[in-house]
Amino acid sequence: MNFKEEYELKRNQIEEILKEYLPPAEGYQKVIMEAMEYSLMAGGKRLRPMLMMETFRLFGGKGDVIRPFMAAIEMIHTYSLVHDDLPALDNDEYRRGRKTTHVVFGEDMAILTGDALLNYAFETACRAFDQNPGDSARIGQALKILAGKAGIYGMIGGQTVDVKESGHRVSGEVLDFIYRLKTGALIESSMMIGAVLAGAGEDEITRIGQIGLKIGLAFQIQDDILDVTGTEENLGKPVHSDEKNEKMTYVVWKGLEESASAVKQMTEEALEELGGFRKQDDFLEQLLRSLVCREK
Ligand code: IPE
Ligand code: IPE
Ligand code: MG
Ligand code: MG
Ligand code: MG
Repeated sequence: MNFKEEYELKRNQIEEILKEYLPPAEGYQKVIMEAMEYSLMAGGKRLRPMLMMETFRLFGGKGDVIRPFMAAIEMIHTYSLVHDDLPALDNDEYRRGRKTTHVVFGEDMAILTGDALLNYAFETACRAFDQNPGDSARIGQALKILAGKAGIYGMIGGQTVDVKESGHRVSGEVLDFIYRLKTGALIESSMMIGAVLAGAGEDEITRIGQIGLKIGLAFQIQDDILDVTGTEENLGKPVHSDEKNEKMTYVVWKGLEESASAVKQMTEEALEELGGFRKQDDFLEQLLRSLVCREK
């Protein structure tokens, strides 16, 4: 199997897991479940659950304790996108090749859909306790990471500064802070949780977190590049959103060329650090390399 086939296979497996954990659409509040499904099952690269799974495998993880956490991280990521697209934030009308949630369900329901996905992510992750009662300590540690990296010292913190600083020319230091938190934190947590649930040691968990953070930084810079050079068709979301919102990005700061070489360099560094772990994992390496030249 070549990389592309393997990636698609894994992506499909993740989609199955997501479907399995989504709540049935029923009751007077049915519309919220429909909107959750609409935003979550719209496609997307599924990078965070994939990195979680691959890191779990890298550290010899076995069994299904990882599954609810894979669903949970994608729910949190999707909620961050639903809210990021709201008129009060980036005001974008297209996401994952579809009209955004607020366009289809209204702004009120989109706010609640984000809330619902965030809360349901934790309800889902907690199901690991019932499914794998023997792993309680690791599950607790994984939950702590998930909660922290999604919050004010993680993704929400980064989004806060990103939104507050729109229209301002921030320093490189602040820009770095924004990227590490708004995008780095969830990718970092994906890899840390994979390691934790596989039973990796404290030092390994810290190191894999640093690798994840670097990958996250590179990922956001590439996202900024694609906002300038990509097409709406490929991306499934609007281009020039950053310019419209007067966002200070890495591309504005350093230019396209230097940004592209930063993505390459950070990825190489991450791969080198990853090579320090005992197992050679071709798929993970190829996955990380594929992000450097991705077009969506
Ligand atoms: C988009 O994330 C938001 C960023 C953090 C750059 P992705 O590019 O992973 O979006 P999907 O999940 O593939 O739609
Ligand atoms: C958003 O960054 C990162 C999130 C935490 C949602 P962007 O605003 O650049 O993401 P896109 O380009 O809309 O996907
Ligand atoms: Mg944004
Ligand atoms: Mg946006
Ligand atoms: Mg962007």
